[in-house]
Amino acid sequence: MQPWGREWWRLFLILVVTGGMGAWFDALSWGLCAGLAISLVWQLWQLRRFELWLMGRGPRLDEGRHDIWAEVAGQVLRIKRRSQKRKRRLSLILKQFLRSTAALPDGTVVLSADSRIVWFNHAAQRLLGLRSPHDTGQWVANLIRAPAFVRYLDDASYDQTVEIPSAHEPDTTLSLQIVPYGDDQRLLVVRDVSRERRLDQVRKDFVANASHELRTPLTVLSGYVEMLLDDVGRDHSAWAGPLTDMREQTVRMEQLLADLLLLSRLDESPRAAAMQPVDLTHLLRRCCAEGARVAADKVTIEAEIDESLVLRGVEGELRSIFDNLISNAVKYTAPGGKVRLKAARVGEGLQVEVVDTGIGIAPEHLPRLTERFYRVDGGRGRDQGGTGLGLAIVKHALQRHDAQLLIQSQQGVGSRFQCLFPAHRVLAVSALENCG
Ligand SMILES: Nc1ncnc2c1ncn2[C@@H]1O[C@H](COP(=O)(O)OP(=O)(O)O)[C@@H](O)[C@H]1O
Ligand SMILES: [Mg+2]
Repeated sequence: MQPWGREWWRLFLILVVTGGMGAWFDALSWGLCAGLAISLVWQLWQLRRFELWLMGRGPRLDEGRHDIWAEVAGQVLRIKRRSQKRKRRLSLILKQFLRSTAALPDGTVVLSADSRIVWFNHAAQRLLGLRSPHDTGQWVANLIRAPAFVRYLDDASYDQTVEIPSAHEPDTTLSLQIVPYGDDQRLLVVRDVSRERRLDQVRKDFVANASHELRTPLTVLSGYVEMLLDDVGRDHSAWAGPLTDMREQTVRMEQLLADLLLLSRLDESPRAAAMQPVDLTHLLRRCCAEGARVAADKVTIEAEIDESLVLRGVEGELRSIFDNLISNAVKYTAPGGKVRLKAARVGEGLQVEVVDTGIGIAPEHLPRLTERFYRVDGGRGRDQGGTGLGLAIVKHALQRHDAQLLIQSQQGVGSRFQCLFPAHRVLAVSALENCG
């Protein structure tokens, strides 16, 4: 019989017996009440036994019995077993996950919403010098104190990485990135990029040394070519043409070496440029005059330069920026076109823009324009005497001045190169006068 059927039968029998006894004494309702009271007391006693069993202090209820309490106890046991199984499976998955994260070569640190350390793997211990379990719960900026990282942590825009020297291993550079996930939690991923940086340095040193070593032989060569050309020019010899070509090529090579050396100098010091006051108005006028000399009558150059613009920076680097932008504008503008240079204060900052009515640049080339030796039309750039390094120099020099380069262009219409200098690079004119 089913447990519930059994239960109803039990109640029915008790009521029949107690009701019958009550009717015998002419008190049926008292008999039924007594029957109900007996049933209630019995159920309460069962409930107490059930409670003791749940707390693990009573005898088993699910064995050797067939009433409703044994049925409920059986159900509870089944649910308990199922949840234990699920818990075991989850803890196994968690253990495997922790083991695999612990084995990762990259350091991984789980951070709470308030930037405290929740968990970290072995690589993080090795790279950042974290100690387990002491450092769990610590504020991460107390343990990684590099100012660049503290700024990055406060910044809350984590699409970039930040590089810092390791405080625990000499000659080690670490790249750190925060990856937000879940409910305001963050993962700090740490990579050892020393090898990449060393290779970068080797490459930079090689280019700088090679350019330096090539300079002296080239100076000798161009000197002799110049001398020969002077001699031969007088005789109108058949050598005049080839020697003129040789001079052109040596001038190009000298320009290329000069650009390579300048670029490696800019590369060598990724730190911000010095803060010497530079009279920008005067400098831009000189750049425009030089541009007009190169453009001859081919292209008109218009300048709209505000008076008394003063920047904090390095004059030579600023000059390279504007010389390159103006010479590009002249070079890539057909005869009869116009180049306009405009410099003015914009808000707290300062903006210099070079606009031309030249050939323009197709949109797919714009993102790669500042790469070394990248040219939209390789042959044409080379024929025009370009080295392909101009815009790379502009980008690096602007970066060193905390400035931004914006490029807009439309093919067949023209291009606009904007340099935006931030407020802390701009000086009031009285400061320049004070500096003499
Ligand atoms: N004002 C401009 N108008 C059109 N194209 C330009 C302009 N400035 C630069 N470019 C394109 O960008 C390329 C890279 O410029 P740059 O680094 O100065 O090298 P280049 O030595 O060729 O001038 C150029 O080859 C040219 O294709
Ligand atoms: Mg150029």
